[in-house]
Amino acid sequence: MKAWVCQKIGDLQDLEIHEVPEPELQPGLIKIAVRATALNFPDVLNVRGLYQHKPSLPFSPGMECAGEVLAVGDGVSGFKPGDRVMAQPRGGALAEQVCAQADQAYQIPKNISFVNASGFIVAYGTSYHAFVDRGALKSGETVLVLGAAGGVGITAIELAKLFGARVIAAASSEAKLDLCRAYGADDCINYSTESIKDRVMELTDGLGVDIAYDPVGGDVMFQALRSMALGGRLLIIGFASGTIGDIPANRLLLRQCQAVGVAFGSYSRAFPDATRKRMNVLVDWLDGGKLKPHVSKVFPFAEGRSALQMLADRKALGKVVVAFDESLGNDTLYRH
Ligand SMILES: NC(=O)c1ccc[n+]([C@@H]2O[C@H](COP(=O)([O-])OP(=O)(O)OC[C@H]3O[C@@H](n4cnc5c(N)ncnc54)[C@H](OP(=O)(O)O)[C@@H]3O)[C@@H](O)[C@H]2O)c1
Repeated sequence: MKAWVCQKIGDLQDLEIHEVPEPELQPGLIKIAVRATALNFPDVLNVRGLYQHKPSLPFSPGMECAGEVLAVGDGVSGFKPGDRVMAQPRGGALAEQVCAQADQAYQIPKNISFVNASGFIVAYGTSYHAFVDRGALKSGETVLVLGAAGGVGITAIELAKLFGARVIAAASSEAKLDLCRAYGADDCINYSTESIKDRVMELTDGLGVDIAYDPVGGDVMFQALRSMALGGRLLIIGFASGTIGDIPANRLLLRQCQAVGVAFGSYSRAFPDATRKRMNVLVDWLDGGKLKPHVSKVFPFAEGRSALQMLADRKALGKVVVAFDESLGNDTLYRH
């Protein structure tokens, strides 16, 4: 079968399509004929050798996909060949076939395309876990979402609004903020031209935000810390800026606030039953039309490298997807 393969750590341009053996089905796994693979920022970091979990070489990127079940391993219940599923394998999804843990896979609702399902689990799972389990978001609170038009950011806007919060979206361009408004952001900050802290204080009558959701890190995280309300929670999601950034303890003391780590992958491996309960809620909301995954571009498989480059170049809005059959894509995409 064909797969995008990383043979040496470093440059996305060194990725190549190779013929590789089909993945081996093990107990507890399902084997999937991949129809669409959604890319995540950690795919870029993996190729550059900058992610916390380092796969051994050679490896195929891709930690999230949608497709049809080809076979189920021993001990698997709830799936059969032919089922339409979304899954989060630990890498290898940028390929014609992949195996994934059955307990971290979900049936795709009938009205949802492979493309729209492919990027559902990680982005929505992360934001739900962040707000519900880590941030204890309450209706009526104010949430600042940083990198708000990105893969996880846009789902944070959508979910925070569903939980009854007021949402301030912050991103680096007006085009990105237009998408945030379409997803329900009440107010927007363009942090290429405006100070996050000054705008937040202006928008909240000097009170600050109850929750800051931060997938960006670096200077943006530092500005968010200066924008916290008393008792606020800074949710640390990731470091897309490339800078982790030190948290000044005096800021936590002054605002009596907390810095809270969020790691959906670790959580779902440690607590599979609790994760499934939460994901079932999200899948129901997807089925009922409450959630509308945003896919900004679908690339054919042959252009997988360009898809990863788009993410690395900070050009993606919502999700970037690689699909085996492009007809799976455009007419079924949610565009706002
Ligand atoms: N903790 C978890 O469980 C979890 C789960 C999923 C993802 N993550 C992490 O969350 C982060 C975002 O992931 P994602 O898939 O949403 O990525 P994404 O779609 O690329 O979004 C990241 C956003 O970060 C901003 N950004 C700022 N500086 C950037 C830079 N130098 N390069 C690229 N983007 C930059 C961009 O928004 P602006 O241009 O508006 O600044 C971009 O939209 C990653 O660090 C990822 O590892 C964590």
